[in-house]
Amino acid sequence: MQTAYSKEELRKVLAPLRGGRVVLVPTMGALHAGHASLLRQARVLAGDSGCVVASVFLNPVQFDNAGDLSAYPQTPEADLELCRCCGVDVVFMPTPEMMYCADHSVSVEETHLSGVLCGAKRPGHFAGVCLVVSKLFNLVQPTDAVFGKKDYQQLAILRRMVRDLDFPITLHGAEIVREQDGLALSSRNVRLTPEHRAAAPGIRKALLAAADSYRCGVSAEDICAGVCAVLERIPGVRVDYAEICDAETLHELTDCKRPALLAVAAYFGEIRLIDNIELSR
Ligand code: PAF
Repeated sequence: MQTAYSKEELRKVLAPLRGGRVVLVPTMGALHAGHASLLRQARVLAGDSGCVVASVFLNPVQFDNAGDLSAYPQTPEADLELCRCCGVDVVFMPTPEMMYCADHSVSVEETHLSGVLCGAKRPGHFAGVCLVVSKLFNLVQPTDAVFGKKDYQQLAILRRMVRDLDFPITLHGAEIVREQDGLALSSRNVRLTPEHRAAAPGIRKALLAAADSYRCGVSAEDICAGVCAVLERIPGVRVDYAEICDAETLHELTDCKRPALLAVAAYFGEIRLIDNIELSR
């Protein structure tokens, strides 16, 4: 495995590895078993003749809250070890100064899917994601990229970006990886208090119960109100949103025969957790 700390090093390291598939897994570090599953999926896609590239970059421009950025865990040594174990060929680990010129002034903004769910609650977040991912696409020039479905809206927005900007890249969505108790893996989980960590699997339980209710024909409004009520019974928990939307457009579900998505974001103390479940009738 090779590690590139600058754009120049990355270009040099990647040049002889091109020819087959180049599969990129963008991450912000603090890697866990959820990332490992993305990296292993990338390894399978790349095959023996292809190359897997992981980027580890805590992207400042996608944080709408300075406190969240400074508290974000950073574990570069362990990240490199995990990448090695998952068969990664190249890790790209730049600093913010290397990624962004001090006077950078170009934005990449998706304007339809970004206005709802997390996008409505975190202004500028998805523009920051689109900016860094398009830079990574230009730098790595992958044939494929893998993203997790926990960030369902992110994946939908990036699919739209690839389509609308003609990036010649195939995106792959990877299933959510969970702890045994159902909590979706997240780099933020380590920041939960012991009480909130014990209560956080309640999100998954609420989503599973909601999926049953949806199948039984309960209205979206009642289901979402139920999810909020269950979660807000936990001391110190505030639901940011719980919404059922069209799984493709992420906007209002107008035909209940179409695939739907229930997405939830909730603050457990200071820590914002997200999760989702696909629904069908
Ligand atoms: O999902 C993430 O970890 C980030 O949003 C991403 C895609 C690596 C961009 O910084």
